[in-house]
Amino acid sequence: MSAFLIEARNLNFYYGTFEALRSINISVSQNSVTALIGPSGCGKSTLLRIMNRMCDLIPGSRVVGSLRVFGREIYDPNYDVTELRRNVGMVFQHPNPFPSTVFENIAFGIRIAGENGKENILRSVEESLSAVDLWSDLKDRLNFPGQNLSMDFQQRLCIARAIAIKPQILLMDEPCSSLDPIATQKIEELIFELKKKYTIVIVTHSMHQAARVSDFTGYLLKGDLIEFDRTESLFKRPKDTRTEEYISGKYG
Ligand SMILES: Nc1ncnc2c1ncn2[C@@H]1O[C@H](COP(=O)(O)OP(=O)(O)OP(=O)(O)O)[C@@H](O)[C@H]1O
Ligand SMILES: [Mg+2]
Repeated sequence: MSAFLIEARNLNFYYGTFEALRSINISVSQNSVTALIGPSGCGKSTLLRIMNRMCDLIPGSRVVGSLRVFGREIYDPNYDVTELRRNVGMVFQHPNPFPSTVFENIAFGIRIAGENGKENILRSVEESLSAVDLWSDLKDRLNFPGQNLSMDFQQRLCIARAIAIKPQILLMDEPCSSLDPIATQKIEELIFELKKKYTIVIVTHSMHQAARVSDFTGYLLKGDLIEFDRTESLFKRPKDTRTEEYISGKYG
């Protein structure tokens, strides 16, 4: 099996006749953080979403080429999407807790994954909240509505919910965009901790954030992956003049 958890080869994606991604080649290694950067509308979220087959229901959308996750072609007609969803978690731009309690936000997915023992569920809820550094703050408020928490706590609750089912990959689409700088720093520290256990792909508008949190960075422009390299190399020694223009602020 390949050393990469996610591998795209000559991957194209279409919304109807619009080609949103063109000939993408990217390899994501285990326990790494990969950042996807680029100007608005360049295909960052699309690339992230198709890694979890989240565009399947968009009428007229189409994938051409190869996208392997855990070594399997996820767009193969015989592929079992439930396996993918079980192993790939997603965190969105705006925190989206369910309209239920802190406890239920996390317990729900654990039950769906097949766990029904009360003790085990409680232990998993504690583990997940501890992993995002929320346990001490929320342990006495497990029956509090998740949607009434601060934005920072809501986003961390959503991360706890995503990791509660123990996925191997965590996809994050601009997870800090609705957060203030202090909460952003908290999430960035968390990403650093999480990569010990998970493989993370994060979309970010902030080049500084990409430089701070990621091991690898991909620069997308109008559906093309212009450059993909170790973060340090991409920012210090970009190979493509278009990357250089973007990171020096001349473009985008
Ligand atoms: N459901 C959709 N149907 C049709 N076109 C879409 C759809 N979603 C996105 N697009 C188009 O695909 C292109 C890429 O969009 P995408 O959301 O992936 O970009 P992005 O890089 O994440 O942008 P942003 O930084 O603004 O979030 C854009 O031109 C967008 O208008
Ligand atoms: Mg986006």
